[in-house]
Amino acid sequence: MSRESVLINDVGPRDGLQNQSKILTVAERVALIKALADAGMRYIETGAFVSPRAVPAMAGSDDVATTLGQLPGVTLSALIPNARGYELARAAGVNTVAMVLYASEGMAQRNVKMSMAEAEAATCDILARASAEGVEVIATVAVAYECPFDGQTDPAVARDIAARFLEQGASRIVFADTIGAANPQQVRQLLDPLVAEVGAERLGAHFHDTRAMGVANVFAAIESGLRYFDASIAGLGGCPFAPGATGNVATEDVVMMLEQMGFDTGIDLDALIAASDLAEELTGSAPGGRSKRWLKPWLQKQAAS
Ligand code: COA
Ligand code: ZN
Repeated sequence: MSRESVLINDVGPRDGLQNQSKILTVAERVALIKALADAGMRYIETGAFVSPRAVPAMAGSDDVATTLGQLPGVTLSALIPNARGYELARAAGVNTVAMVLYASEGMAQRNVKMSMAEAEAATCDILARASAEGVEVIATVAVAYECPFDGQTDPAVARDIAARFLEQGASRIVFADTIGAANPQQVRQLLDPLVAEVGAERLGAHFHDTRAMGVANVFAAIESGLRYFDASIAGLGGCPFAPGATGNVATEDVVMMLEQMGFDTGIDLDALIAASDLAEELTGSAPGGRSKRWLKPWLQKQAAS
């Protein structure tokens, strides 16, 4: 019987590295991305075309993109905050862009110095341009559950933003628990009504593991029908503009859970662990997934038998 697929988008090279105290070189970033591709990762967020003053670790994302070129079977995306970022990304050969929408005024101001409405209008303009140029757009709704500045998010607000963008032609909408404050029940409460309305195919989820509920929240979203998740190799991550947020849910934890549940992630666990070790080695501070300590000896035993 064929197994049901789940897509993982590794955001470690962007969401992860942007918040590390150690800034990696272009060659190191490229090596990490290639290690992820070698593990079978089909989506990788490679960098961000943002102000280098705002996020110094993402400077050189153009060099990362041009050095990588296209990797067969892998969708390489980059985050863009505005039209300038779109143009720079396109000039570097990027064909899939990730844009951020905001479910709170506080986060929109801190992140891009715009109101929610301004950020949405700017994003709509880029979306129209991208559609005309055949560029794929993945839009993330930040602080979909809770904002560090404005408190709890009304799920209806997050759903409305998502519905508007799907209608405008975004290929996928990802709901982000930017600070890792959601619990599995809230995940169901946010997602179920939207899945009932538009289906799960174009929806995705992004969790941080701040309160150790990252994997539980992925499971909740699976129960809601979602089959696309952001995760970060070795649990790298955080947001420089969202105080108190720790890393994303670790890719190795998510992949292990899904594979053991019988889903097909297309990812080779041995190669994924190698990528995780590389992320730890390069940054010196990646927390590493919780599962790795168990997975390593288990994989060795499997290989020996
Ligand atoms: N790429 C590179 N540089 C950019 C840029 C882009 N996409 N957009 C603007 N800039 C530069 C401008 O040229 C300007 O540079 P200068 O000061 O050397 O002249 C500087 O950034 C400020 O530009 P301005 O248009 O005044 O924007 P701002 O000060 O309102 O900042 C952003 C807005 C969005 C550019 C900036 O806050 C940013 O890049 N934030 C990153 C957000 C992010 O990545 N968050 C994490 C992801 S959730
Ligand atoms: Zn994030």
